[in-house]
Amino acid sequence: MIRYEPMTVADLDAVAAVEQAVYPFPWSRGNFADSLAAGHGAWLAQEHGRMTAYAVTMQVLDEAHLLNLTVPPEHQRHGRGTAMLTHLLELARQAGVRRMLLEVRPGNLPGQALYRRHGFVEIGRRRDYYPAHGGREDAIVMACEP
Ligand SMILES: CC(C)(COP(=O)(O)OP(=O)(O)OC[C@H]1O[C@@H](n2cnc3c(N)ncnc32)[C@H](O)[C@@H]1OP(=O)(O)O)[C@@H](O)C(=O)NCCC(=O)NCCS
Repeated sequence: MIRYEPMTVADLDAVAAVEQAVYPFPWSRGNFADSLAAGHGAWLAQEHGRMTAYAVTMQVLDEAHLLNLTVPPEHQRHGRGTAMLTHLLELARQAGVRRMLLEVRPGNLPGQALYRRHGFVEIGRRRDYYPAHGGREDAIVMACEP
């Protein structure tokens, strides 16, 4: 049974540790703290006392931006990403969101597959959006109606 809880400052060491383990260019603990301070939506999935996913969203009027969605390596490919995204889309619907947007790296095929399954389609690219080894990398921008 998955419980979704708001992320708090007390969670940030654990979140930042997973972030370091998952991404070559992770968000820092401070990036998450800034998101909490800015009032962004920030969620943890908890199962039997373990964190099995986290996500950060930002809503502006009727548009929501998915800023971070992560499943710790040992929990990947067991439906946690799907479950978190379903939770976020449900919250977005309840909040009157008409469009959810996100960026994903062109090389992140698991991420793109997950998002496509939930109705996201590519709507454009942002040039040199991400830091990358030896330069910058474009982002694919995807959107869906929750
Ligand atoms: C992308 C991520 C959030 C997916 O979460 P997950 O819990 O592993 O994914 P799920 O088990 O819910 O899988 C849902 C679908 O995503 C796709 N998918 C997930 N992992 C995949 C992989 N390694 N290879 C290919 N497709 C994959 C598949 O379509 C999968 O459905 P299927 O298992 O029926 O084939 C997770 O792997 C993750 O945190 N990755 C690292 C961080 C990241 O890339 N975040 C997104 C940044 S935009």
